[in-house]
Amino acid sequence: MADYSLPEGSLFLGFDSSTQSLKATVLDSNLNIITSEIVHFDSELPHYKTKDGVYRDPSGNRRIVSPTLMWIEALEILLGKFTKTKLDFGRIAAVSGSGQQHGSVYWKNGSSFKLASLDPKKTLLDQLHDAFSTDESPVWMDSSTTEQCKEIEKAVGGALELSRITGSRAYERYTGPQIRKIFETQPQVYHETERISLVSSFMASLLIGAYASIDHTDGAGMNLMDIQQRDWSKIALEATAPGLEEKLGKLAPAHAVAGLIAPYFVERFHFNKKCLVIQWSGDNPNSLAGLTLNTPGDLAISLGTSDTVFGITSEPKPSLEGHVFPNPVDTAGYMVMLCYKNGSLTREDVRNQCADQSWEVFNKLLDETPPLNGGKLGFYYKDHEILPPLPVGIHRYVLENFVGDCLDGLKEHEVSEFDASSEIRAIIEGQFLSMRAHAERFGMPIPPKRMIATGGASANQSILNSIASIFGCDVYTVQRPDSASLGAALRAVHGWLCNSKGSFVPISCLYKDKLEKTSLSCKLSKTAGDPELFSKYTLFMKKRMEIEEHLVQKLTRC
Ligand code: ADP
Ligand code: XUL
Repeated sequence: MADYSLPEGSLFLGFDSSTQSLKATVLDSNLNIITSEIVHFDSELPHYKTKDGVYRDPSGNRRIVSPTLMWIEALEILLGKFTKTKLDFGRIAAVSGSGQQHGSVYWKNGSSFKLASLDPKKTLLDQLHDAFSTDESPVWMDSSTTEQCKEIEKAVGGALELSRITGSRAYERYTGPQIRKIFETQPQVYHETERISLVSSFMASLLIGAYASIDHTDGAGMNLMDIQQRDWSKIALEATAPGLEEKLGKLAPAHAVAGLIAPYFVERFHFNKKCLVIQWSGDNPNSLAGLTLNTPGDLAISLGTSDTVFGITSEPKPSLEGHVFPNPVDTAGYMVMLCYKNGSLTREDVRNQCADQSWEVFNKLLDETPPLNGGKLGFYYKDHEILPPLPVGIHRYVLENFVGDCLDGLKEHEVSEFDASSEIRAIIEGQFLSMRAHAERFGMPIPPKRMIATGGASANQSILNSIASIFGCDVYTVQRPDSASLGAALRAVHGWLCNSKGSFVPISCLYKDKLEKTSLSCKLSKTAGDPELFSKYTLFMKKRMEIEEHLVQKLTRC
């Protein structure tokens, strides 16, 4: 029988370069978490003056960017924190990472030389501060590229055709439309750029001291890659900007070796010079790896800055809703995903206004208010929403005499406010009813066999209770809510193993006997709940979708 054990004493490091922070998790050779660290951008790098890790353009043009240099400085601070806790970098056999999806970095002509000749006596920031043709990286929260989306869809033969080729219709945050906007509005930036990286491949490039490839999974978040061929799509490239293929470099599978760790890190932090850097990928694909999703019917829900719902399928049906990416831990199959922009930050706003800025008070009020909220339904968009595409605003409705058994003859009316506890229940029920409805439309099985929750808000038991009632399934959490960096560490192990075997091995080989006993085990947080309540929620959801469709028609007509 093949031996898939890992060298005794070896360690595996996974990063997560997310919207609000850079985190890292270290696993030992038994796949137990031995340590982790975090650098929070707003508070630990205050000189960049970000709010929630980003700059929102005050002119209301929906442009949202992050300072590229902040991510570099965060990497140095994070490694410095590990040095202080005496992490033995020399034992790390492989490193990988996760990046917020879609965000892009523009390396200036001549920067590959700078990357390849980093001096270990100086900081990365000192040496790379002028390596970019723009210092502002557009990120996934940006929705300023509606025009470019229309142009790209038109050029490839329509939204559905683009989705068939690349796995998604054109989305404002996707990298292709972002690149087209830079080409159109800042042509000098485009022409001065020799390489465009995603956040994931950018961070990998720092670690190998050369441009790292974009991996197949994160590459599918660009509206530029043919998801079946796993190569750049000529027609999508042409629809986006001239000379683009050269600036993007080659693609690589997520389990491939990006390169050896650069001498800079060997000398400055005492990494082993044989330490492998495995391709980085997107945060949602890494979460899928971190949650060890493997059974069809398992659905994951990630409650971070954005909220996402995802699962695995062998037969994806790319459509006008949701996204299809290649499976990040297998050479076959796909990952399907829905993404909401109004996640934790919008819940936080309601908490701050209705619950004294305290999750404890928020939960008390949520628990006190009965399910179905007396027929009160709310739509909360602090930021321009993706699913459905609706502008900033709050819409509240009351469904009179709704008890959950019938919708016939029921009328809703719009109101301008709810009391505090109804507001809290309305945002929670509203967000999860929307996820259930759109997941069902996208072909995900409802109720799922089980739901695995992750991300900052998965620490909240009252929120998990609502998820179990609305989706009608058991809800599990991972031991630690930080599944993207855990997933990155697991992918570092996986990439190391594939490299040592000389060919791809399924990631499940790693998990033999380990899923129950190690940091990978899931904890049951809430059982399925009441089937009667589940069917009442089905009706409530139908009504919500009717109202949602009206809102989309009314607010996006112009
Ligand atoms: P990201 O990885 O996108 O930077 P995280 O997954 O770390 O984000 O989640 C951060 C968010 O988690 C915060 O914005 C916060 O609102 C939310 N959060 C943290 N604790 C709780 C809690 N107990 N209840 C609800 N939300 C929480
Ligand atoms: C996914 C998306 C977000 C970002 C940041 O399409 O835009 O989930 O990956 O978390």
